[in-house]
Amino acid sequence: MKWLCLGAVLLAVGCGPVPAADYGEELFGDPKLSDSQYNTFSCATCHATTASPPKDKVYAGLSLHDVASRPHWWGGYETRLLDAVNFCYTAFMRGVTPLAPEDPRSRALYEYLVRISPDEDAPAQPFTLVKDIGNVPRDSAERGADVYRAACLECHGEAHTGKGRLTQLAPVLPEVSQDYGTLFPGVAPGLIFIEKIRHGRFFGVGGNMPPYSRESLSDKDLGAVLAYLGL
Ligand code: HEC
Ligand code: HEC
Repeated sequence: MKWLCLGAVLLAVGCGPVPAADYGEELFGDPKLSDSQYNTFSCATCHATTASPPKDKVYAGLSLHDVASRPHWWGGYETRLLDAVNFCYTAFMRGVTPLAPEDPRSRALYEYLVRISPDEDAPAQPFTLVKDIGNVPRDSAERGADVYRAACLECHGEAHTGKGRLTQLAPVLPEVSQDYGTLFPGVAPGLIFIEKIRHGRFFGVGGNMPPYSRESLSDKDLGAVLAYLGL
């Protein structure tokens, strides 16, 4: 009986396969796309998909609106869209085996990215990784609270407690800096934070936090977050 009912329901809503782009949109928001059980990030954790990203959110990645039409990605470093995606998949989502071109999930993700790319002549986007780390002037702590909420809260949870954080792997801020005295003697904790935020997992730092390029976070906003965290 159960099966019959189910059949009737499916017929009522119009049976047939889910369109690839819809499936791709689902995968875009699903951490289980990754083959690592430790991953809690989805593409949507780090990327907006609209032409003008929401004002109350600061994403580490660029908006993927028009992404499929861009001539290259990652500041010219990647020339195939699937490679650009797999960079995120392996570096940030802890994926072990990169998504293969013939995998139906790659196909579906592609169809979704094409759907959010209405402008066929969209230009490549700048991506400026800050290589050499220097101090930044501190800005208003009050504004920093807003930037923290928009940029860091989702992964790290509330400052001082980590309440609501997306993953236990993301340490409580700024308390994690209490160990820095022994780990990095003589280096100001604020500078170590700047290095982590600007480089993410790169330049030998490790982990799977994304880097914030100049395009995603200004020095002014970075200085505000640090002031808010008391660093
Ligand atoms: C933890 C954060 C994070 C996750 C998760 C993530 N990305 Fe990214 N992604 C980034 C960052 C940071 C960049 C580099 C800045 C930029 O170009 O957006 C980037 C770059 C890209 C680019 C290149 C954009 C360009 O024009 O240069 C594409 C395409 C992309 N990501 C797609 C995806 C897809 C699809 C997923 C899910 C499978 C995903 N990303 C998951 C952070 C992330
Ligand atoms: C997409 C999720 C995500 C976002 C967004 C994010 N982080 Fe992280 N962060 C992590 C994870 C996971 C770790 C631990 C793994 C690692 O070191 O990469 C981490 C580690 C760190 C560390 C290093 C702690 C240590 O000493 O090992 C600092 C500092 C930090 N984050 C600060 C920030 C700040 C400030 C922001 C906002 C501007 C931010 N993070 C945004 C996920 C995130």
